Formats: sequence, C-alpha cells, structure tokens
Amino acid sequence: MSNIFKCPEWDSTPETAVNHNFSENVNNNKVRNGKISKERKKKKKNTALKHVKNEEIKETLRKSSPGRFVKIQQDKCPKLPNSAPQSLRERLIGSLKGSRFRFINEQLYTSQGSEARKIFEEDTTAFRVYHDGYRQQVSQWPLNPLDVIIKSVRKMPKDYIIGDFGCGEARLAKSVAHKVYSLDLVSEQQDVIACDMANTPLTKNSLNVVVYCLSLMGTNLKDFLLEANRLLKMGGLVKIAEVQSRFTKVTDFIKNVERCGFKLMDKDLRKNYFFFMTFKKISNISKSAHMEDFSLKPCLYKKR
Ligand SMILES: C[S@@+](CC[C@H](N)C(=O)[O-])C[C@H]1O[C@@H](n2cnc3c(N)ncnc32)[C@H](O)[C@@H]1O
Repeated sequence: MSNIFKCPEWDSTPETAVNHNFSENVNNNKVRNGKISKERKKKKKNTALKHVKNEEIKETLRKSSPGRFVKIQQDKCPKLPNSAPQSLRERLIGSLKGSRFRFINEQLYTSQGSEARKIFEEDTTAFRVYHDGYRQQVSQWPLNPLDVIIKSVRKMPKDYIIGDFGCGEARLAKSVAHKVYSLDLVSEQQDVIACDMANTPLTKNSLNVVVYCLSLMGTNLKDFLLEANRLLKMGGLVKIAEVQSRFTKVTDFIKNVERCGFKLMDKDLRKNYFFFMTFKKISNISKSAHMEDFSLKPCLYKKR
C-alpha cells in the first residue's frame, strides 16, 4: 500500500546531497595536474556562460517555489558548474516541488474546508503545485479511481445532473455527456465553481448524484455530507471513492454517512488500494442538526 504513495523522481535526491555533489565537481576541476592552466583559460572563457546559466536556474527555482528559494539564497546558493547535468538540475527543482506538494497535501487533510480555501487564496501557486504533484502520484497507481466513477456515471440516465465535489482538474465533466457541476476550492477553468464544498452556491434538491473522488479531505466530513443532503433530490446518490488506508473502521464511516440522511446501497472494498461506496438519500437532514463531526485518516505521501 505505502509504495504507491511515494514519489521517487522528486524525493530520491535530498538538497544537501545535491549541494555536496556540486562542490565535489568544482574541486575536481582545480586539482587536475598538468591541465591546470588550460582549465583556467577554459574557465575564463566560460565565465559569462556560467553566469547566464546560474541566473537561469535561480529564476526557475524562484518561479517554482518562491518561499524555499529565499532559504537557498540565505545559505549561499552554490555556483553550478557549466557541466551540471540537466537531470541534476531537474532533480533539484523536482525535490523542491515535491516538498511543497507534500506540505499542501498535509494541510488539506488536517484542516477544515474553509481553512483549506484560505490556504489556496493566500498562495495562488499552491493549487497548481498540488495538482502537478497529484497527477505525478496518480501516474504511479495501478488504477485511477476517477476512471471507475466515470464508467459508472456513463451508465446513468442522460438527464441526471451530477455534482463533482472536489473536482480537481474537472476530468469527470469532460468525460461524460451529463450536465456536471464541477466544484473545487480554486477555479482554474471556466466551468469550475470555486467554493468550499461544505457551502456551495447550488440550489437545494437540484442534483441526482454527488461525487467525492478522493476529495473527502477535510476534518469536517459531516458538513460536506449535509451539504450533499441539501442539494440532492430524494433518492439521489452519493458516490465515494477513497484510499483504503484512510479508514480505521469502514462500518463507523458508513454509520456516520447514514446519519447524514443516506442509506448504503453498494460497497466495493475489493479493488486494490481504494474503496468505492454508493449511498442513496432517504431523508432530509438540516445542516443545523446537532451531530458529531467525523473524519478519515489523512493520506500522507512519504518522502523517500
Ligand atoms: C485528491 S484531489 C482529487 C481530484 C479529483 N476528484 C480527481 O479524482 O482527480 C482532491 C481535490 O479535492 C479538493 N478539495 C478538498 N477539500 C475541498 C473542499 N472543502 N471544497 C472543495 N474542494 C475540496 C482539492 O482542492 C483537490 O482538488
């Protein structure tokens, strides 16, 4: 299980190891006997070129991770030799991006929806960094749960109206013929509604299906499910896909969802790494109803 949530490309080279390699490379140039004057001439010739390359790399780092770059400057960013292989540069940048992805991911899993929204409002690059990282993770999984959801939505009556809650890059809407309201904390695409899915601008009793594909991230799941209850027509469906390891006891989770006015219709706990569940709305439950909140364990991606 844990292997699929690792990201080798980003995490295999810690920053300290990268810096060490740079200085080794520079020292080797200095001590080559007999070639030292030739080396110096070469060095002079290439100084301007090196400067341009270093500036280019710093600029890339600055764009990819402004906060982290300040730290590197303070530690005196090592001079990158002209011969620095492309892959090394890419790995350094990748390592910074990977750290930011893990940090944002952890914040999303340990905050309430409204706090998570603020995180993305305060750092406008965070959503892109998160989704670049998420896409990288998904590419290593044996199965993308969104494909399973897409397949099941395609079989539904064409007049069904779907809410994709925590839609990410809104692939569900692009993959089915149905009317889909795509909602996420940030809208990077024209048809995505930016909101906390605990409080959406949609009209009550307007949806046939609410989808949560790996998006039950916050600590206030009760608020999300009660909003789904408000929006769904009676008999409407909630489709959930989640990482198996997030559940301590699946039966407790099911009971908590059912307390929000739903009845479990179907569960598929056999698919590798993921659980799939379908609930049906059987009663109206007010958002002001007194009910204990519930959550799932965070899904944290490990640094190698
Ligand atoms: C792991 S991604 C999955 C994206 C998409 N469902 C998929 O399967 O590709 C989870 C998404 O849920 C969103 N999300 C988390 N909490 C949310 C909230 N309270 N309101 C709206 N979106 C939320 C995140 O911003 C992120 O885009």
